[in-house]
Amino acid sequence: MSPLNHRHVAPSILSADLANLAAEVKAVVDAGATVVHFDVMDGQFVPPITVGPVVLSALRDALPASIYLDVHLMIETPERQIEDFASAGADGITFHAEATPHAHRVLHQIREADCRAGLAVCPATPPAVFEEVADMVDLALVMTVNPGWGGQALIPSCLEKVKQVREILGPDAAIQVDGGVDAETAPLCAAAGATWFVAGSAVFGAEDPGAAYRTIAAAAGVGSA
Ligand code: DX5
Ligand code: ZN
Repeated sequence: MSPLNHRHVAPSILSADLANLAAEVKAVVDAGATVVHFDVMDGQFVPPITVGPVVLSALRDALPASIYLDVHLMIETPERQIEDFASAGADGITFHAEATPHAHRVLHQIREADCRAGLAVCPATPPAVFEEVADMVDLALVMTVNPGWGGQALIPSCLEKVKQVREILGPDAAIQVDGGVDAETAPLCAAAGATWFVAGSAVFGAEDPGAAYRTIAAAAGVGSA
């Protein structure tokens, strides 16, 4: 069964200690995480610069093959980078609708590279973009903060958009929220229709990331749906 059909909390490496990345990620995998969220920023689409395929490949080699690497591209012209991230070991690749005029083509390109295709929207982008490509999207990412930084508060109006995307894509779609997700906000996201929950600072900013993962997973209903 595809991991897309299940609920997941995906710890985001953005808030991990990057000098100890493999050990940090293994701690949450040991706590039960099966999806790891890998944030890529290019200094153009968003101001910060993070990591790319070389680090993804190193992380891939350090983890069991069963762990799903969920790559979130916050980069301009993502169509130039899909093959590199696919060969570095991505299981899913999500790019931003705002970052290219060619969303239809890029979704196809990601599936051609044998990855799950994700499309993301920033808080100011309306949900209608999903209507035109509904049958090509494996994962819809509704950003619940403005992309670029961890540790921001969830923007409540984005939850209304989660509901709208659920109406567009139907009951079986995988809908991801990213930004400001913790044990308190995860149930609100779940009630709006989210099934994949990215959590960065709430996991890796905690004293015990494994315990934090389990608390958020329970709050999000992981394992119960
Ligand atoms: C932000 C990234 C997120 C980030 C979320 O642009 O896409 O994945 O890690 O961080 P938190 O969970 O701290 O809001
Ligand atoms: Zn992200």
